[in-house]
Amino acid sequence: MKSKIRSPFFYVGDKYKLMPQLEKLFPVNINNYYEPFVGGGSSFLNTEAKNFFLNDINKYVIQLHCYLQSFRESKDKFFESLFRTIKKYGLSCSFLGKIVPDELKKEFIKTYYSRYNKENYMKMREDYNKNKSNFELLYLLLIYGFNHMIRFNLKGEFNLPVGNVDFNKNVYNALNNYFDFSKKNNLNFFNQDYKEFLINRDFEKNDFVYLDPPYLISNSEYNKIWNEKNEEELYQILEDIDNQDVKFGLSNLVIHKDKKNEILLDWMKKYKVYEVNSNYISRFDNTRKINSREVYVTNYEKEKIREKTIIVFNNYEKS
Ligand SMILES: C[S@@+](CC[C@H](N)C(=O)[O-])C[C@H]1O[C@@H](n2cnc3c(N)ncnc32)[C@H](O)[C@@H]1O
Repeated sequence: MKSKIRSPFFYVGDKYKLMPQLEKLFPVNINNYYEPFVGGGSSFLNTEAKNFFLNDINKYVIQLHCYLQSFRESKDKFFESLFRTIKKYGLSCSFLGKIVPDELKKEFIKTYYSRYNKENYMKMREDYNKNKSNFELLYLLLIYGFNHMIRFNLKGEFNLPVGNVDFNKNVYNALNNYFDFSKKNNLNFFNQDYKEFLINRDFEKNDFVYLDPPYLISNSEYNKIWNEKNEEELYQILEDIDNQDVKFGLSNLVIHKDKKNEILLDWMKKYKVYEVNSNYISRFDNTRKINSREVYVTNYEKEKIREKTIIVFNNYEKS
């Protein structure tokens, strides 16, 4: 099996680990691929299509995608400049062999990266907040920041603390793969609400819409802005897409911890539903599995998917 491409955003809740399962459920021969909630892009990076239309409401995420796109023909230039900036700020960089001194590693076994980079990271954050058109700094804040997240306060300042990571081989490989994919494919980015992005589209034969929206019943940063009204609206829009004979595939959670998504459970009855094994683990204890059931809901025939050996979701009995 071809190994999967990791997005250089390392997006919280990305679909990277699930792509081996999801890819088999995507339709074959996709003409235009639409992804209204693209996030870091783990899904499109592992999909073949003629053209890609990619959208997210988060303007910083789209700014970063567009910034990286601008180097798809000149990745060496990108890396040269990035490494210069990492050196200028004195950040550690395992990839270049600029590593944290052993004494610090011994003293702070689990937190030495953050200990080492904290002060210089804060200086970089201050500089970015003075000039928000410096996307290279925004990308470095994402890499060196807490949990690889992007977060701004009400004053519009990037406000995440330093993370316990640095620029390593995984980041380098992810960027390299991203540039290679971008060079070979026709990618178009949009920064809109998903409804605007999908409405009035001139869909063509063999187009496919893949949706990984915020999840109503789990609590990532981007899920906080999603409520029951949003959930119902989304399913209405998917009905419209279905009426236009356009294929869609939706990822979502039916159960998470002690919560159930009743709106989804009800709506998905009329579609094909596959179980996706997502193996959520506890944030506080990574040996503890969370009670969670993830599904992939489609409006197209099982015959049109890549592989037939997948588990169809068992009807969930309401208790
Ligand atoms: C579950 S994440 C997608 C993660 C993505 N599949 C990945 O692998 O990185 C959901 C995304 O939806 C975006 N989003 C939230 N509300 C939105 C809206 N109304 N319109 C478009 N995008 C939205 C968030 O910014 C977030 O990036």
